[in-house]
Amino acid sequence: MNKSCEFDIIIWGASGFTGRLVAGYIFSKYGTNRDLKWAMAGRNLAKLELVRSKVADKTVPLVVADSNDDESLKEMVKRAKVICTTVGPYAKYGSKLVSVCIENKTHYCDLAGEVQWIRKMIDKHHESAVANQTKIVNCCGFDSIPSDMGVYFIQKISKAKKGQIAKQIQMRVAGASGGISGGTYESLSQVNEEAHKDKNIFKVLINPYGLNPVGEQEGLDKYDLRTIVYDKASKSWIGPFIMAAINTKIVRRSNALSGYAYGKDFRYDEATLSGKGLKGRVKGFISAIPIGLMMSAKPGSLLKRIIDKILPKAGEGPNKKQRENGFYNLRFYITYEDGSKALAKVIGDMDPGYGSTSKMLSEAAICLAKDELLHLGGVLTPSTAMGDKLLSRLEKNAGLTFSYK
Ligand SMILES: NC(=O)c1ccc[n+]([C@@H]2O[C@H](COP(=O)([O-])OP(=O)(O)OC[C@H]3O[C@@H](n4cnc5c(N)ncnc54)[C@H](OP(=O)(O)O)[C@@H]3O)[C@@H](O)[C@H]2O)c1
Repeated sequence: MNKSCEFDIIIWGASGFTGRLVAGYIFSKYGTNRDLKWAMAGRNLAKLELVRSKVADKTVPLVVADSNDDESLKEMVKRAKVICTTVGPYAKYGSKLVSVCIENKTHYCDLAGEVQWIRKMIDKHHESAVANQTKIVNCCGFDSIPSDMGVYFIQKISKAKKGQIAKQIQMRVAGASGGISGGTYESLSQVNEEAHKDKNIFKVLINPYGLNPVGEQEGLDKYDLRTIVYDKASKSWIGPFIMAAINTKIVRRSNALSGYAYGKDFRYDEATLSGKGLKGRVKGFISAIPIGLMMSAKPGSLLKRIIDKILPKAGEGPNKKQRENGFYNLRFYITYEDGSKALAKVIGDMDPGYGSTSKMLSEAAICLAKDELLHLGGVLTPSTAMGDKLLSRLEKNAGLTFSYK
């Protein structure tokens, strides 16, 4: 798409917690009035001006657009090659934007981890996005770039080094430190609420292939881990990983969209390492409690109200120190057809959800706007939309390390 526009990128939601980190990253790394033309957008001009004064300067143009005002969305979308949105929950505020982007052939990337909404967008818009060669790319943050690009990296290096693809990859979170924002908690609550109301949504959430194309939603993989078990791959106890619910489905969608580049019988799962022996087992049980409580709290229940009080509100999240001292370390245990094994790692240099996520989303948006990518459209995944170009940006600019041995 050779669209000539006033801006390469508009960051919509720039006044929010994650949006302002994205704007701050782009301002400090790429500046303004240089090669990258970009703007900050939101629904409230006064708030945008205030945030801009903290994370950038007056050279960054501001755009006002509200999800409840279709005209404002259209005007915003026409002005950019790429809309990068952090306005969530996406199920609440994001649907119209996706259709306007496709109508105007404007690429799109987001941080949605809301499986039920992504499914809706695939069903409603995949075909028209293909026809208009417009890339709609969900999950460009901690969910699901490290998983999706980690598997992409492993399969690429496996072909080059071993002449074969991996038959099974088991991702284990070996360590992570960070926090949660009000917006993320609200989005998790949105998924929970919709699943409690509608059994069909619950079915999409629990189907391991719930984001695959219709008619291709079966395979060897089972449900995500929900308990503590001993894991032969890592020789350790493992427990549930909350992001597995979205990440594993994105990896499987990437496989399907790439014409099964990883094989039709490829297997993938994710879990959290809790350690060896009795200590590891007990640690696994203890660390699974908060996730269990959060996901089982019914909308309107006392438990839900207590959790609502404890967790951050919209616009809040981990502070600078927590973001800068944060990290994640993901191990990928690999098994090949011939029985041989390998280990890969993806390491991030800041907290997963915000410090690292804001860099990943920014680089994905810049990649969509600036890099020479395949002329394909659709509701895509990071790896199928951007492949090698994104991998290189993540390593060079976003503080991610991909390694294999
Ligand atoms: N996948 C990941 O790894 C990852 C990581 C981080 C965040 N996220 C997701 O990113 C999203 C944002 O999180 P956050 O913590 O940054 O949330 P937040 O601080 O609450 O920010 C939300 C933004 O949406 C804007 N907004 C709300 N209603 C709007 C409307 N009607 N029209 C236009 N803009 C509107 C808000 O504008 P105002 O400032 O004017 O209120 C704000 O800028 C969430 O869905 C979260 O789950 C995902």
